[in-house]
Amino acid sequence: MQQKKLTIPDIRNRKNQTPIVELTAYDYPWARMVDAAGIDIILVGDSLGMVVLGYPDTVCVTMEEMLHHSKAVVRGVERALVVTDMPFGSYNRSIPDAIDNATRLLKEGHADAVKLEGGVTMAATVAAIVRAGIPVQGHIGLTPQTATSLGGFKVQGKNAEAARQLIDDARALEDAGCFSIVLEAIPAPLAEHITRQVTIPTIGIGAGAGCDGQVLVIHDLVGLYDRFTPKFVKQYARINEPVVEALTRYKEEVENRTFPTEAHSFSMKAEERDKLLDLY
Ligand code: KIV
Repeated sequence: MQQKKLTIPDIRNRKNQTPIVELTAYDYPWARMVDAAGIDIILVGDSLGMVVLGYPDTVCVTMEEMLHHSKAVVRGVERALVVTDMPFGSYNRSIPDAIDNATRLLKEGHADAVKLEGGVTMAATVAAIVRAGIPVQGHIGLTPQTATSLGGFKVQGKNAEAARQLIDDARALEDAGCFSIVLEAIPAPLAEHITRQVTIPTIGIGAGAGCDGQVLVIHDLVGLYDRFTPKFVKQYARINEPVVEALTRYKEEVENRTFPTEAHSFSMKAEERDKLLDLY
């Protein structure tokens, strides 16, 4: 049976209700599995640069790459809301440029909404994109695209001054019209405080249990990315192990000729087979 597609109001109405579950996906088969599991929001995150494309960070990711993956994900989804990340450089040059790129992610990438990083400094850009009719998910705290300026992949908002800045960032994004905000790598009490201060849902990643929802990178959750696992990740499976085991068995069976068997082959009528001998 066709599932009813979630909408922006459905997500906004989940404030202080059942937690919102968000997870990344980057292609058609994974999008189908994530949707089948009943996840509410699928994020086509620019983390795809690292976990799918093998880049060292998310800075190199391009609009064309985001569009390519967004389209593939949307083809696999019935129910979840699809949010696609705006890559670095696609929204920070000028507001008209940001509106054009956000529009492309909806028109060509078929996303339902976009996500971009930054608080107070990005509020005018967010407001302009929202006025153009495009729903925006904010992202503050540890913002991977500008991690170098933040001193690396570190927990943010650990002292009162930095915490105040993040509270201002969250309020600015709410005023700019974001429908939700991702809070990444900030202390749990601060995330809980921000969650109480804003009327839109907060989605935590490394921000404790007091948010209105949680998001993770799917490759971390299922154990597909072995280069680095942040402290805030819970690994629910380690699927790279059974996959490597299956591939090793395939290699062995081809080499020792136990694959393919008759069950995986096509036969020929005996009289036609006998004619093969006369062909040359
Ligand atoms: O790109 C991404 O996957 C993200 C999540 C870490 C929230 O932005």
